[in-house]
Amino acid sequence: MGYNMSKSSGVRLFISLFFLVFFVNVLPGAENKPIYKDPKRPVEERVLDLLGRMTLEEKIGQMNQYSAPLTSEYAELTKKGRVGSFLNLVGEEKNRAQRFAVEYTRLGIPLIFGLDVVHGYVTIFPIPLGMASSWDPELVKKVVSIAAKEAASDGIDWTFAPMIDIARDSRWGRIAEGAGEDTYLSSVMAKAQVEGYQGEDLTDPNTIVACPKHFVAYGGAIGGRDYNTVDISERTLRAVYLPPFKAAIVDANAGTIMSAFNEINGIPATANPFIIKKILREEWGFDGFVVSDWNSIGELLWHGVVEKPVEAAYKALKNGIDMDMSGNRLDDSTSGTPDNMYQRNLDKLVKEKLVSEREIDDAVRRILRIKFKLGLFERPYMDTSRARSIIKSKENIEAAVEIARKSIVLLKNDKNLLPFSKKVKSIAVVGPLANNRRSLLGPWSARGDSSDVVTVLEGIKSKVAPETEVYHAKGYDILGSSTEKIDEAVKVAKKADVAVVVVGESHDMSGEAASRAYLDLPGVQQELVKAIYETGVPVVEVLMNGRPLSISWSAENVPAIVETWFLGIQAGHAIADVLFGDYNPSGKLPVTFPRTVGQVPIYYNHKNTGRPANTDNKWSSKYIDVPFTPLFPFGHGLSYTEFEYSNLKIDKNKIKNTGEVKISLNVKNTGNYEGTEIVQLYVNDVVSSVTTPVKELKGFKLVKLKPGEKKTVKLTLTADQLGIYDENMEYVVEPGIFEIMIGKSSEDIQLKGEIEVL
Ligand code: BGC
Repeated sequence: MGYNMSKSSGVRLFISLFFLVFFVNVLPGAENKPIYKDPKRPVEERVLDLLGRMTLEEKIGQMNQYSAPLTSEYAELTKKGRVGSFLNLVGEEKNRAQRFAVEYTRLGIPLIFGLDVVHGYVTIFPIPLGMASSWDPELVKKVVSIAAKEAASDGIDWTFAPMIDIARDSRWGRIAEGAGEDTYLSSVMAKAQVEGYQGEDLTDPNTIVACPKHFVAYGGAIGGRDYNTVDISERTLRAVYLPPFKAAIVDANAGTIMSAFNEINGIPATANPFIIKKILREEWGFDGFVVSDWNSIGELLWHGVVEKPVEAAYKALKNGIDMDMSGNRLDDSTSGTPDNMYQRNLDKLVKEKLVSEREIDDAVRRILRIKFKLGLFERPYMDTSRARSIIKSKENIEAAVEIARKSIVLLKNDKNLLPFSKKVKSIAVVGPLANNRRSLLGPWSARGDSSDVVTVLEGIKSKVAPETEVYHAKGYDILGSSTEKIDEAVKVAKKADVAVVVVGESHDMSGEAASRAYLDLPGVQQELVKAIYETGVPVVEVLMNGRPLSISWSAENVPAIVETWFLGIQAGHAIADVLFGDYNPSGKLPVTFPRTVGQVPIYYNHKNTGRPANTDNKWSSKYIDVPFTPLFPFGHGLSYTEFEYSNLKIDKNKIKNTGEVKISLNVKNTGNYEGTEIVQLYVNDVVSSVTTPVKELKGFKLVKLKPGEKKTVKLTLTADQLGIYDENMEYVVEPGIFEIMIGKSSEDIQLKGEIEVL
């Protein structure tokens, strides 16, 4: 009986297994869905499953990225599964390329599409240096999320942003793309931007994955010359350049990162085990992928650290570069730098056993992880119906005006020349940028369109009373050098009650490959400003530029100066709002303005030195021909109202090295306009085992006050923020006295106190 029983149950078991296998594997419809195609499975399981199915060629395919246009060569490579990503392909072209990957390849792995969405997609916001002047991370996060939503609606999955390189040298054109010179402010902005792009959930169709760049210290290019050598100590690297990246990667969980063009300590960043393997992966536990900068693997040859292309691929892979941004050259004969380093060489390296398939797997795993996290396997194509209602929507335009206003910095306003009355009888709006559209989009304008830009002239015309006469003359061609047109501008200025002269740089004078050796107003613009000033008509200088300019003459003579950077498509309205008092400016400089280029690099958080600068002492650290002080310091920015600071309270005067203090103070609006003040907290570590800066920003708060209103501003300072890298490069909080400074700028300190760390 026992035997019979087991025999019949054995038969049943066999029959059930047969049907199970039959239905799961054979019958159509009840198909055996591979794990990697099942969105319900955890990402790691899906990655593992997919990786297990891939051939070496398919794996290497994932590691190559090409740029638009989608040539027939790229199309063929994509169909063969030899491309993992494209940059600069949007809209229908994206869907076309995606179809080649999803429908023609064996495993249907979707491509990931990247673009430099740096300060807006079609709705262009101020350049990042401008946005940083708002000191408003919440607002920055909001506009960045709008940029992400617009870009995502047009097929973009991935932005090469934020650019979070600290820049202390304003000759470097890419200073425009970051948050300036300060580590704390840049870290706050880095986190806000990554959160804005990535949102809560990368599978959300309105979010895109961020790629903080350029890892690392690209802004330290010697002489401010783009792509130049960087030579900094590990201390400066850790204390100054790395924290914004840590904020982006560790605090905000950025999914990818881009390696820089430059070298660090003699080793190019695109083959640097110290920064990528040790810091990024080991110390910070980063599990996303690293993309090279445009052809920076090939450029290892020009750095002179390898002899042959195959060695460049070897070095980059061994040192943690997962994807090769090859750019768009497939043929050596058309370019100076060999490209396609991974496409051409990885296969060979594995076959020769110089690279193991495991190492390839590690890189591919990281790339696939992000593709799964983005939900690309479920949603590879863009929905062509979405973009229309999202791009340039009413709320996006409103956000563009809001951030543009907040990015404006009032540098000078003698005798309250500003704001103007809207009923002014006549106004002259002159200068090469007064009615310029293109430059206001800045150097990285994604899919921005100049025809969307509101110029200053238009903004002013739409603001003033109908009876106000608005005269305009260019006065100077931004790219020319002739002074002929200055007379024309002088003529219109003479007719007017007030003059606005709009000068600065064109968009292509900053950004990538746009370093300058002079920081003055380019061309004959200074002469134009002087000529307008000499008419005796009250004049306001409106600056547009991607970097601090040395405008010493103007700072001395012109009564009012307004820094507007490149404010994006709503620039004209935002500037007119400020000029006519509909908006009271609150921006503060995220970067120091030098008096002359000879002072550069100049930054507020310098060390004291053994011979601190002292005008009365020749043998101190200074120049004999120019003051050592800046023209406008970091954190500077005026308002149409006045703020009075009082009553600094620090809840404890001694704390443990794990503790924190609560700081409070009162700020009162003593003027006649409602306004926002940005209260800045600086700290000086008085005595420490290694030298530290004279002061460092450690916190700030925006406080909005009506005339006569007073509010208590509260800030928290943790002991951990007071740490330094000691002589062994360990981050430690040392005991001692710390001076607490509360200021309107890094130089205008209003209140002081101190605490002791035990
Ligand atoms: C720049 C990167 C940019 C990339 C792709 C490079 O030249 O350095 O910042 O993301 O091009 O456009």
